[in-house]
This record gives sequence, C-alpha cells and structure tokens, in this order.
Amino acid sequence: MSSHWEEFFATHLPPSDFEDNRKLLKEFCERQNKLQNNIVLITSGGTTIPLEHNTVRFVDNFSAGTRGSSKNLYRSSLLNIQNLGSASAEYFLEHSYAVIFMHRQKSLEPFTRHFNGQQFFDMLELSDREIGPSSTISVKPDSVDVLAPILAKYKRAAEAKQILYINFTSVVDYMWLLRASCECLAAFEKRAVLYLAAAVSDFYIPSDKMPVHKIQSGEGAPTISLQLVPKILAPLVSLWVPNAFVVSFKLETDENLLIAKSRESLNKYKHKLVIANILQTRKNRVIFVTPTTSYEVVLTREQALSGLEIEEPIVADVVRKHDEFVSTIEHQ
Ligand code: PMT
Repeated sequence: MSSHWEEFFATHLPPSDFEDNRKLLKEFCERQNKLQNNIVLITSGGTTIPLEHNTVRFVDNFSAGTRGSSKNLYRSSLLNIQNLGSASAEYFLEHSYAVIFMHRQKSLEPFTRHFNGQQFFDMLELSDREIGPSSTISVKPDSVDVLAPILAKYKRAAEAKQILYINFTSVVDYMWLLRASCECLAAFEKRAVLYLAAAVSDFYIPSDKMPVHKIQSGEGAPTISLQLVPKILAPLVSLWVPNAFVVSFKLETDENLLIAKSRESLNKYKHKLVIANILQTRKNRVIFVTPTTSYEVVLTREQALSGLEIEEPIVADVVRKHDEFVSTIEHQ
C-alpha cells in the first residue's frame, strides 16, 4: 500500500515549468558540489490552495516571505548602511553557502527586498526631461550609501553564480519542487542544510475533487471540503536527504503549544532543529528547539532600531550548529 505522500505525487501533476526547473537545479547543484561548497535550500513564502482547476480563486495565507528573504524597510539615505540588515538568504551567502532560494512567486526576494515600490525610482535621477539618445540615469548622491553595498553584494553573488531562484505558487508546485531539490541535494550529504521557512498549507482540495471551471456564485455559497496535505518532512528526513542538516520552522499563535509542538515534531521526524515562533512576535523573537535544549534568540528594540534583523543571529546560529554537526560526523 502506498503512503499518503506517494499517493499525493501519483495523483497530482507537476507544474508546467517543472522540467526546466529540475534542469536548473541539477546544473546548479552539480557545479556547487564540484566546488565542495556548503549548500542551503531556503523555502520562503506561503503556498496557495486553488479552488478550481482553471484557477480564478484560491485560499492563501499570511506569509510574505519575509523570513526567507527578510524585509527591512529602507528608512532613509541618512541611515548608516552597515546597520541595515540583510536577510536569511543574504546571510547564508555571506557565510559562503550556495543558496537555492525556493520562494512563492512575487514574494520578497534577497537584495530587491530592500526597496519598496517607488523607493527605488526615488533614488535615481534622469538627466533630461525630454528623453533622447544622450539621456542618462544616475543614482542621487545621497542614495549611493544605501544602494552601493546592496548592489555590491548582489553582483558578487550573481557573478559567482552562488544563488539559484526557483518559484512556486500552489502547494502542489511546492511539493514537486521540494522533492526535485532534495534529489539534487542528496549528493551533498552532511554539507546540505534545509531551512524550511515556507508557510506550507496543511489543507487542500485534491485534484479529483476540484471543479474544472470557475465556481458560479449563482449556484449559492459552495461547501468546500478540505483534506490534509501529507507532512512532507517525513519522507524528506528519512528518505530524500537522510544525511543533511534539516531545520524546520514551527508557527503557532498560542505560546503554550510552541515548545511542546516543536519537540513533538523533532521526535516524530528525527531532524536536527526546529525554529519556533509566534505569529505576532516572529520578527523579534524565535526559540531554537533541539532534541535536548531550547533557547531564545531575541532582538531588542535598540537592535531593531539600529537596523539589525533577527535573521542575522538566526542564520549565524544555524551555521554554527551545522558546523558542529559536520565535525561530529567527521570524528565518528
Ligand atoms: O514569511 P514571513 O512573514 O517572514 O513569516 C515567517 C514564518 C512565520 C512563515 C516562518 O518563520 C515559519 O514559522 N514558517 C513555518 C510555518 C509553518 O508552516 O509552520 P507549521 O507548524 O504549519 O509547519 C511546520 C513545519 O512542517 C514547516 O517547516 C513545514 O515546512 C513543514 N510542513 C508543513 C506542512 C506540510 N504539509 N508538510 C510539512 O513538512
């Protein structure tokens, strides 16, 4: 008898661009593995639950992908850029990891996250009102301090081909891409970190229960019956990347459940670390839960005001724990 997750893959088709993404993943991982680099897969943003095959409507969740890419509002060009945070993906790049950034389409991305809406245009100047062949665009002098360090980091990562961007929308896309990523990451063994920060839907409408066309409002309010999405951590940890350093996240709204649920997850899936957070305070407090310990990582008000992001100490701690994990295995 097949398991819940096997049945899920057997009954749900991959997204149309799946083979292209699989090829990109394979090429990226082979190159990074030859270089003997550490690698991290970061999942970021929420997954959607389509209500129709020809999707007009879907159920979504809160996640904007802040944790994975992390967003620090650009405050003003007077702000000391050294204090501007970068984010989980940017921090892993700084720790010399190769990064697969698997994110919800249109959610925040590393580097561009620093500039909201028109802010980027406000940093630029156009030489002439009437645009002609000699027109130029320049960065306003008071914006160079803000833009240059981010651009330098972006260029460094892009030129070194150190980051690969892969995007998903629905929970089905997410599952297929996660499995394809794991197929490529398995070869890295202990050098791979999985940092599963996406807010993955727990419920969905299976393909065979979904109407083909737009649900008609004239037929009255629909009764929608959702089913459980298989917990993908189970095959991921035990079968797909059994030697990797797997970090899952746990989101709750009730503080009383947070540690117990994280421990339960560690006991059940046998991975290395859960980073637990509460919805309302997730930007300044998380709890690292391991099978034997738990401790808080907190951002003080002063640190937040000075531009530090909580993802900086989070990533530093994950990297330290990964290093310890690698050396323990090497000394066995
Ligand atoms: O995006 P932001 O606004 O920055 O918010 C960041 C965050 C709150 C989304 C992030 O810090 C976080 O907590 N992410 C995990 C949220 C979540 O889905 O928690 P969960 O308790 O439902 O799932 C726990 C773990 O199980 C997750 O690591 C998930 O990858 C995994 N899971 C979930 C569903 C599923 N079907 N299979 C899974 O394996």
